[in-house]
Amino acid sequence: TAPLTIAIDGPAAAGKGTLAKRLAEHYGLPYLDTGLLYRAIGKLASDAGIDLDDAAAVGPIAERLDTSHLDDGSLRGREAGELASRVAVHPQVRSALTAFQRDFAARPEGAVLDGRDIGTVICPNAQVKIFVTASAEVRARRRTDELAAKGRDVTYERILAEVRERDVRDAGRSVAPLKPAADAHLLDTSELDIETAFRAACEIIDRSA
Ligand code: C5P
Repeated sequence: TAPLTIAIDGPAAAGKGTLAKRLAEHYGLPYLDTGLLYRAIGKLASDAGIDLDDAAAVGPIAERLDTSHLDDGSLRGREAGELASRVAVHPQVRSALTAFQRDFAARPEGAVLDGRDIGTVICPNAQVKIFVTASAEVRARRRTDELAAKGRDVTYERILAEVRERDVRDAGRSVAPLKPAADAHLLDTSELDIETAFRAACEIIDRSA
């Protein structure tokens, strides 16, 4: 059978990561969380005191990124997500990451990748593309509950503002903006729990693979 490549895209906090990880386990495929690449670059640039809006200064950091050290827990937080979305607007940054992502996607056994431009730019030929969405309110509610469960002192209003700001930046940039590929299956999880969303995704995959 042909290797199965699954592209998962969608806005921040839509549940892409949770879904992609479960799908990778279910289908026995390696998984790449591409947001971590942008998060790592944002953090490295910020730690080095580099102006994140300066494409010429951030570009070389992307070119030198050590992709074998991405599982650092500090990359998962809100701050790193914010830094990531700022460096992700630079074409130099995006193109420096393209080969690594495509090589990962081309593994002989197949792969699951999640991000913003997997179905549109990185893997336009993926067998299955799923665009995971949920309303900004639902995403903010989930994120707030998640953070509250970890004991963080956050308000829903603050998180909603962050979610909206990230949407505007990710969808509004000129290079690889967040948008569903023409042949992506839309999966709106606003009214679905994780289990139901997972089963819906499996149906889409089993139908199209
Ligand atoms: O998915 P995650 O929240 O980790 O992504 C952090 C930020 O990295 C996103 O808001 C987006 O700006 C950027 N990103 C991207 N392309 C990807 C993955 C992430 O531009 N494929």
